[in-house]
Amino acid sequence: MSNEDPRILELRALREKTRLGGGVERIATQHAKGKLTARERLDILLDSGTFHELEPFITHQSDEMGAFSEKFAGDGVITGYGQINGRTVYTYAQDFTVYGGTLGEMQSHKICRVMDLALRNGVPIIGLIDSGGARIQEGVKSLGGYAEIFRRNAQYSGVIPQISVMLGPCAGGAAYSPALTDLIIMVRKHSFMFLTGPEVIKAVTGEIIDAESLGGTTVHTETTGTAHLATDSEEEALLLTRKILGYFPSNNIENPPYEPPEDDPLRMNEELNSIIPMDPTLPYQMHEVIETVIDQGTFIELHPTWARNAIIGLARIGGHSVGIVAQEPSEVAGVIDIDASDKMARFVRMCDCFNIPLVTFVDSPGYLPGVAQEHSGIIRHGAKVLYAYAEATVPKITVITRKAYGGAYIVMGSKYLGTDVTYAWPSAEIAVMGAEGAVNILFRKKIESSKDPSAERSRLVEEYRKQFNNPYYAARAGYVDDIIEPRETRSKIIASLAALRDKYSSAPPRKHGNIPV
Ligand code: HXC
Repeated sequence: MSNEDPRILELRALREKTRLGGGVERIATQHAKGKLTARERLDILLDSGTFHELEPFITHQSDEMGAFSEKFAGDGVITGYGQINGRTVYTYAQDFTVYGGTLGEMQSHKICRVMDLALRNGVPIIGLIDSGGARIQEGVKSLGGYAEIFRRNAQYSGVIPQISVMLGPCAGGAAYSPALTDLIIMVRKHSFMFLTGPEVIKAVTGEIIDAESLGGTTVHTETTGTAHLATDSEEEALLLTRKILGYFPSNNIENPPYEPPEDDPLRMNEELNSIIPMDPTLPYQMHEVIETVIDQGTFIELHPTWARNAIIGLARIGGHSVGIVAQEPSEVAGVIDIDASDKMARFVRMCDCFNIPLVTFVDSPGYLPGVAQEHSGIIRHGAKVLYAYAEATVPKITVITRKAYGGAYIVMGSKYLGTDVTYAWPSAEIAVMGAEGAVNILFRKKIESSKDPSAERSRLVEEYRKQFNNPYYAARAGYVDDIIEPRETRSKIIASLAALRDKYSSAPPRKHGNIPV
């Protein structure tokens, strides 16, 4: 028989019970669905043995719930702090085995507590979300609880990184809180995001739809752009979260961590000197340009399957974290449409919040013309990119690889929008529009009245191309800083970043700007 202090034994027994959440049966159900428990997820997310739990004994305090009042220690969420690659983070993991991970007053209290501690200590907050949203039984207390979280999501935005990993059916507030954070990672076939689930939709509108078609990963990574990334398993999502955090500083005052590069900063990329086709109508892969220029294997593309005409992602160049923004000329010619605008603008702002320099590669014929785009608000959406670039104070380097026509030239970090260093490749075409369009507008009458309109048009197009569709006109007028060989792009960017490391930028005092949303 043990002669240990019974109070210690009681603590151990109670602590053991807290580890069971909603009980062994519900844990078995969770496993049967191929899902991990909240504790198993934290084990993968954090460095081994670094997790320290807070408030494990909290239960709901809504005793007026009567028949619905079963109390589970922890109230459906595990909260605490730990480390990722030796850096402190605060985290919360919702426990689907307790009331479907739903949020009531006390669960909200626990989540807000770790959010506040993360802010006070200037470290990231990571939410592992698996929740049916507001807990029905707690009524307005649940709604108020979400309001507390949303307020913190908004107020802490841009101060500490906030990452949401979606690991189950996430409804209502469980979808809205992540939408207010910096990054959302989903798991294919396991995570869903919707305001109301299929049952509620059927009852209200009569529409019949399953969870996957309503708010699965395909919907949110290809159509809505709500989620940034999707993985095939929970483990991959959690490991990806660890990796991504390595590109972020812990808060908006620090710089992102430097990792000594294995890749030669002076490496020349001879293959880039021949990557741009002589025929400007032929595409090439901007992805290839990016992968060649950055430290090998460091690119994490965000939103890779949404608005593919734009490319955004985190990478390292010379060991330093950078945000890459580019067009993909092999996707609808790299045109800027509404989704591409939203994708680029939010990313530029995220990088600016967290002192991540921006490296922009431009090859775009401009904003997408068309009635549908105009009527869906391309002016308002496109303005976001202008606003984001103009407002960003981080070091900004732009490389024009080929087309920079009209709005595309201005918006993609052009010199007088505030870019620090603008380089152009000899293949750059910097003009108000392409040669054909320009000739049709400027010389319509001349072409129509000529003996051979087609030959006259070709002659004028060629003349226009020679005169305007090159980088030298822009370089002579001071609109680009230098024309460089593509092969030296990597070393030029690394040198520019070093020269901009202590960049100081001031702006007129204000409460905050009024970005078009
Ligand atoms: C209380 C809930 C609950 C809820 C689920 N549960 N949702 N309990 N409040 N909102 C409980 C179930 O009773 C069950 O308890 C357990 O969680 C698991 O639920 P299941 O339905 O068995 O699981 P599953 O089939 O996987 O379906 C999960 C689900 C579905 C898709 C989340 O339960 C669902 O649609 N729930 C309602 C979602 C919703 O509309 N929420 C309110 C959103 S409004 P037992 O005891 O059996 O384990 C909101 C306000 C904020 O969040 C708005 C922001 C602006």
